[in-house]
Amino acid sequence: MKFGGIELEGRVLLAPMAGVTNLSYRRFLKPFGVALTVSEMISDCGLVYGNKQTFEYLRTAEDERPVALQLFGSSLESTVKAVEILEKNATYDILDLNLGCPVYKVTKTGAGSAWLRRPDELFEYLKGICDVSKHPVTIKIRLGWDQEHINVHEVVQLAEKAGVQGITIHARTTKQLYSGQPQYELIRDIQKETSVPIAVSGDIFTVGDAIKAMEITGAHFVMVARGALGNPQLVSQINEKLNGEPVEEALPLSKQLELAEQYADMLIADIGAHRAIPQLRGILPHFFSGFPGYKKIRLSITESLKSENDLERIWAGIRAHAQFNC
Ligand SMILES: Cc1cc2nc3c(=O)[nH]c(=O)nc-3n(C[C@H](O)[C@H](O)[C@H](O)COP(=O)(O)O)c2cc1C
Repeated sequence: MKFGGIELEGRVLLAPMAGVTNLSYRRFLKPFGVALTVSEMISDCGLVYGNKQTFEYLRTAEDERPVALQLFGSSLESTVKAVEILEKNATYDILDLNLGCPVYKVTKTGAGSAWLRRPDELFEYLKGICDVSKHPVTIKIRLGWDQEHINVHEVVQLAEKAGVQGITIHARTTKQLYSGQPQYELIRDIQKETSVPIAVSGDIFTVGDAIKAMEITGAHFVMVARGALGNPQLVSQINEKLNGEPVEEALPLSKQLELAEQYADMLIADIGAHRAIPQLRGILPHFFSGFPGYKKIRLSITESLKSENDLERIWAGIRAHAQFNC
């Protein structure tokens, strides 16, 4: 099935997550059967003003493709300039536009989900970008700004008319941020309303969550975000279920440890220990969530991981623990 005009192998997309889905994370997840990776959101102004950090987000790798780069911006003029910069400086397959970010720092500028409040302008924005982009354009939206302004159905229609070739719907409103219940019932059968392929997002933590979200909405694709943090096997399990294959059992602690080590090695090799260690303090505990002794493991990571040497000590501790708790 196609998304963003590209035939994807599989139906599980890896969500963009600022501060998480860096190049190493995306490459780490890919072998689990990710059909499309998406970069962290990239500021169009950051590109236009030549911000060095922003340009870092443009890095992609051949082995993660197809890959989408996700831009956010508040005006057609600046986003078009950013698209031109992307075309010259990055290798990617799809241009994704962030129309769902609820963070005040972003929405107060008119970017992210603030676009959902001005649908007329949004149509011109999307059309303008579809007209100039040499890459297929997809968007990521929410149900609407708040419960009184659910306009996802209208936005899907106008996006199709503007030339968008893939739509991810995070089934929450902007006001719900990330913690309210996703409201899949509000987009029941939404895939029937459009020929643009739809992906659904929101609280996909288990295979059952993915199947239910796809069944309710009829969406061709599902996007995995926090559910795969420390649990990349979720992606392969969803694929197995969708392919009618037996779903593998959850991995034991010893295997989770191997995965955590693999990710740490990849990140350190890519950006160096100095930058990787603070990020690892945030992400590594997720690999051990739910196992006996989790609290102790988490503390050993969050409180004492300061260097690569500490990592070796932490791994040894978890390995010893895993022998008794497989
Ligand atoms: C830490 C974090 C960062 C995120 N960053 C982005 C982003 O850069 N762009 C985007 O479109 N969505 C972003 N999202 C939203 C996710 O892509 C996803 O739609 C949302 O988390 C709902 O899925 P979940 O409930 O399964 O986690 C972010 C979510 C989280 C938790």
